[in-house]
Amino acid sequence: MAALNWSELPRPIIALSPMADMTDSAFCRVVQEVTDAGQPTPSPLVMFREMVSAEAVVRGNDKTLGMTAIHEAERPLVQQIFGSDPVTMAKAASMIEAEHHPEGFDINMGCPVYKIVHNFNGAALMQNAELAGNIVRAMKAAITVPLSVKIRLGWSEPTECVAFAQALEAAGANLITVHGRTKLQGYSGVADWRQVGEVKKAVSIPVLVNGDVHTAEKVVEALKQSNADGVLIARGALGNPWIFAQINEVLAGLPVTPITIGERLRVVRRHLNLHLEQYGEASVPTFRKHLSWYFKGLPHMKDYKEGMMKASTRVELETILDSFLAAHNTTDTTSYRPDVITKK
Ligand SMILES: Cc1cc2nc3c(=O)[nH]c(=O)nc-3n(C[C@H](O)[C@H](O)[C@H](O)COP(=O)(O)O)c2cc1C
Repeated sequence: MAALNWSELPRPIIALSPMADMTDSAFCRVVQEVTDAGQPTPSPLVMFREMVSAEAVVRGNDKTLGMTAIHEAERPLVQQIFGSDPVTMAKAASMIEAEHHPEGFDINMGCPVYKIVHNFNGAALMQNAELAGNIVRAMKAAITVPLSVKIRLGWSEPTECVAFAQALEAAGANLITVHGRTKLQGYSGVADWRQVGEVKKAVSIPVLVNGDVHTAEKVVEALKQSNADGVLIARGALGNPWIFAQINEVLAGLPVTPITIGERLRVVRRHLNLHLEQYGEASVPTFRKHLSWYFKGLPHMKDYKEGMMKASTRVELETILDSFLAAHNTTDTTSYRPDVITKK
């Protein structure tokens, strides 16, 4: 597949936001399959793979390099990298490009968690535009595909993003995603889509809006308030890979197709199969994080959930899924997913 040309992709650009431990190959494949089965769109759905450490890649850490492998069905895919040393970042990107050929790279300059920022990675880079620019320049010189950067509104002040984004553009970034919160806000408060619009006004490269776009309908409002070129969806896609097909329906002026219990279970099983294919038959326990999102908020789940969270083999888990299905009407489309997601 050709490298992404962010400036020429049909608008709005819709993408799956990078999420550590979540947007792995199995999940990205599920998202693409579910989206492909829905409304056709002129713009391909873009996957952002979870972040990997540049240092670990350069050290030759097999597990980290394995996280950057791409199944053809996931493409187009952007690999996100975190780090703060321009030379290491450039080397890691060039190693991943040679091995797996993603359609783009992204730099994490928005992660607020301590274990990332205390090494001056993630959102900490927003405090040093010169270093951030040097990372962009070094990576651009090392890769042949476009380079994007994911930032927040600022470290402490929501206005910091404007000059910072201009510095990234001057250094050669091809696209910027802005999560509408500061680092100090973490996940509290509400994403400020209008402030993302200040970045859009200040740069000429494309800008994607991110944060709190948790339903298909909210895409329209986020785009209106920010005037961004597209949207990156994170938590709204967890346990809910249908959100992209629903977004395509909303954008086409069609009613949103509700998800039946039968379809939910079909996709849970498909995701389980792909997860076990990727990590091996013993990896049922690491699928639990997805299960809790797939069944989030559904009434009378206590007994099933307890069983699901204890199941450690495919047979145990499939038995519980079978009994859940047998006890429910497969055509039931009760919507139980909360509109506002508070969990990180
Ligand atoms: C479990 C989880 C893991 C995340 N991992 C990453 C990551 O690897 N890289 C990144 O840039 N952002 C990461 N984020 C942040 C999201 O991409 C996104 O910016 C944030 O959740 C706000 O968007 P949302 O309201 O659509 O969830 C993560 C978020 C969550 C919930």
